[in-house]
Amino acid sequence: MSELNRRSFLAGGVGVAGGVGAAVLLGVGLPYALGPSSASSDGAVLVSRLRRPRPFTQPLRVPPVLSPTHSTADSDYYAITARQAAVSIVPGTTTRIFGFNGIFPGPTIISRRDRTTTVLHRNELPIPIVVHLHGGHTPVESDGYPIDLVYPVDMRYLNAHRMAMGGSTKGMPGIGSDDAGDVSHGQRVYTYPMHQRAATLWYHDHRMGFTGPSVWRGLAGFHLVRDEEEDALHLPSARYELPLFLADRSFEADGSFRYPSTDPTMVNTPGVTTSFIAGVLGDVMLVNGVPWPNAAVDRASYRLRILNGCNARRLKLRLDPPPEGGIVQIGTEGGLLAAPLAHDDFELAEAQRLDAIIDFSRYRPGTEVTLYNDFGEGEMGRIMRFTIRPDSGHRYNVPDRLSDLRPVDASRAAITRSFRFQAGGPGWVVNAQPFSPDVALARPQLGQLEIWELFADSYHPVHAHLDPFQIIARGITGPGPYDAGWKDTIDLKPAEQARIAVQFNDYAGRFVFHCHNLEHEDMAMMANFITS
Ligand code: C2O
Ligand code: CU
Repeated sequence: MSELNRRSFLAGGVGVAGGVGAAVLLGVGLPYALGPSSASSDGAVLVSRLRRPRPFTQPLRVPPVLSPTHSTADSDYYAITARQAAVSIVPGTTTRIFGFNGIFPGPTIISRRDRTTTVLHRNELPIPIVVHLHGGHTPVESDGYPIDLVYPVDMRYLNAHRMAMGGSTKGMPGIGSDDAGDVSHGQRVYTYPMHQRAATLWYHDHRMGFTGPSVWRGLAGFHLVRDEEEDALHLPSARYELPLFLADRSFEADGSFRYPSTDPTMVNTPGVTTSFIAGVLGDVMLVNGVPWPNAAVDRASYRLRILNGCNARRLKLRLDPPPEGGIVQIGTEGGLLAAPLAHDDFELAEAQRLDAIIDFSRYRPGTEVTLYNDFGEGEMGRIMRFTIRPDSGHRYNVPDRLSDLRPVDASRAAITRSFRFQAGGPGWVVNAQPFSPDVALARPQLGQLEIWELFADSYHPVHAHLDPFQIIARGITGPGPYDAGWKDTIDLKPAEQARIAVQFNDYAGRFVFHCHNLEHEDMAMMANFITS
């Protein structure tokens, strides 16, 4: 059965989103009604109040690479200031963003494996932030635990509003905790040992209850890790290596970002208005902060490092006319695959990354190659365009072996745990529990292989902090076509069950795993595991 048929089967032909259909079928009560839905994502489209820009009229931009403030024999030091800035996104308007260094996406950090990266994050925004390096193998004190707030330098705005979230989780619906978090004032140093493979990571806000609106307003950027194994491949680099931060957004008439917060102050009450509780879908597609951009590319091979940075939108990427050899996947969230995989299209859930080589060398100059999102409707069915220039560059021959990556032997697993990601409580829950800092759903031993059985009632991209995992099975079949390699986020579909092999090796402490649909995450679909 095709996915679409399966979904309408589950929905009983009622014409609602797959997620809802599945939930109804399974007898899970949904405490709310959903707005208009997109067929392949949870959530409702938030309609912009301005005239959307014409696709493919603005050039692609690439976020600047951040230089270290200083370096020592084994460490690089960076400084970033989160601040508001007025930037131009939709021509003729300005958008006030919350940006790392005042830009969206934030500056790209590039680390070397085993060189410590230290980032001083200063908070000049009116609201608290928490910085998480997504995909980082990071000690607990630098992992951006959701209540380890970095308060603003200037507290006037916060003081002017009631501070139910003031360092504790008291006041969050359904959650009472006396845990005050490890808070800092004005700034915080995050230290990343970077004992990990080359990979495409990203950093973003992770404040409890408010990650959705903060990331929507711009608090996210790329963080790439390089190593010798990757160097040896001589992959397309410099201008032939493009990080692409895909993010849907909606706009008010004046060009500001539109987001349906229950509490637009972003101080007291987390969550979104009822129709968006399943997720907020934008109606303008941004790539590196530019709506539907056009990139002029040489007739050459390019390395595209694509991030789905949407809050709730799933993407199905396809290039047309198709490139010679297809979309050649070389890596995923956890770095290089063992061997390349050619795809005609690629499904990418929220927070997932695709590392791919695209051969543009065979197109005629002037060809317009469009990157489509086959899950999107109307304008949202397109993402960006590549226009082929007459200039030729290097055509990269992707080697048959990319890296030393072995499938884990699931029979070695010491323990199996089950987690159910479902509607419930104040919004969304894991094993019937809304997030609380006080409750741990798992206490894995460092170095021990475990099987986690995940069940989802609707679309839930499940992400675990600290270490990546491998996907062992979906239902009664093996992993899907987009599941290869080391993953940090698995795209779970309505009524789907999957098995993943996880092994936490790096650091002891309390970490989170959660749904990366940011509206689900903010409405409590998050849980702790404590490693020791
Ligand atoms: Cu991208 Cu816990 O997050
Ligand atoms: Cu979810």
